[in-house]
Amino acid sequence: MADTLTKLTYQTFQQGKNYFGLAHKILSNRLKNIISPSEQPTKPIPQETLLKIRERLNHLLEADWQDAERGIYPESLLFDNPWEDFFRYYPLVWLDLPQMWERVNQKRCQEFSPSIDIDGYPSYYLQNFHYQTDGYLSDFSANLYDLQVEILFGGSADVMRRRILAPLVETLHGTSLQPRQTRVLDVACGTGRTLKMIRAALPQASLFGTDLSPAYLRKATELLSQIPGELPQLLQANAEELPYLDNYFHAVTSVFLFHELPAMVRQRVIEQCFRVTKPGGTFIICDSIQMSDFPDMEPAMENFHETFHEPYYKNYTTDNLVERLEKAGFENIEMQVHFMSKYLIARKPA
Ligand SMILES: C[S@@+](CC[C@H](N)C(=O)[O-])C[C@H]1O[C@@H](n2cnc3c(N)ncnc32)[C@H](O)[C@@H]1O
Repeated sequence: MADTLTKLTYQTFQQGKNYFGLAHKILSNRLKNIISPSEQPTKPIPQETLLKIRERLNHLLEADWQDAERGIYPESLLFDNPWEDFFRYYPLVWLDLPQMWERVNQKRCQEFSPSIDIDGYPSYYLQNFHYQTDGYLSDFSANLYDLQVEILFGGSADVMRRRILAPLVETLHGTSLQPRQTRVLDVACGTGRTLKMIRAALPQASLFGTDLSPAYLRKATELLSQIPGELPQLLQANAEELPYLDNYFHAVTSVFLFHELPAMVRQRVIEQCFRVTKPGGTFIICDSIQMSDFPDMEPAMENFHETFHEPYYKNYTTDNLVERLEKAGFENIEMQVHFMSKYLIARKPA
């Protein structure tokens, strides 16, 4: 009975987030059409595809619930939501929209506040991904990012991130390692939401995170210092040159990074992840679905890279990630697809 009630609460909670995201999108589109109308046509998504999307979302939520039920992670994670950030920053999401629309209409996508030092970053990174203000390079952007992503995915971004936990926990439990000896790295950890989930699932493991953005790392430190357990070690670094020893981590994860990298950089990052993973260790990628995973989504994928300024997404949607992983040396690559994300679980030979 208690379980049924908790499940119902979870479903209602997610439903609420989904409706909220939908309402936000409808209202903001209407407002955009009044304040900043654009000529750019977007491909309509057929009703049939929308029904399939809903069905996939329901499967994702069921898988999330089941993993919590079987103890992969605590049930409390299902209800984790950055409420404080929501109340503090949601009004700013709205206030920022007119500038963002202007950027969209004028296709200005490499625009940074004069106070931001852009020296030393790779040119592919100096973009207003999602047309967001300051790209990844300001505290303002870091404060709004999680809310914007949750709205985009109708409240399921964290649920999709949590899909990496089952393969991660299962590989580590399959070893004779003491929990404290386990080292896990999250590459491009952003604001730290994945590390927070890994901490809940593996309370004793030594956690590490790296990202190119100092502002996002500051935000991650703020989030991660509020939770019990050892503070994950965060480092600013380019994923193309990970500042760690060879064969150091029992597992490496990366969430929503690869679609934002040019093809050659994708390969270099995979090779770095291979280098720092221990023989017998596991590398887990979570990223957007690709064309072959859900061909009906073609119009939405076409819209996405245009309307959200994702310059490398089109190439990503048809890239052969399994081939890239194998080229780096990984083997036994398993693939999963859940809702709008795909997962690649790759092993480094023992
Ligand atoms: C879409 S966000 C994903 C962040 C986070 N993993 C999440 O789940 O929300 C992409 C992240 O990748 C980081 N990033 C992009 N290119 C990078 C690179 N070459 N090296 C390290 N981090 C990079 C960005 O700073 C940003 O935090």
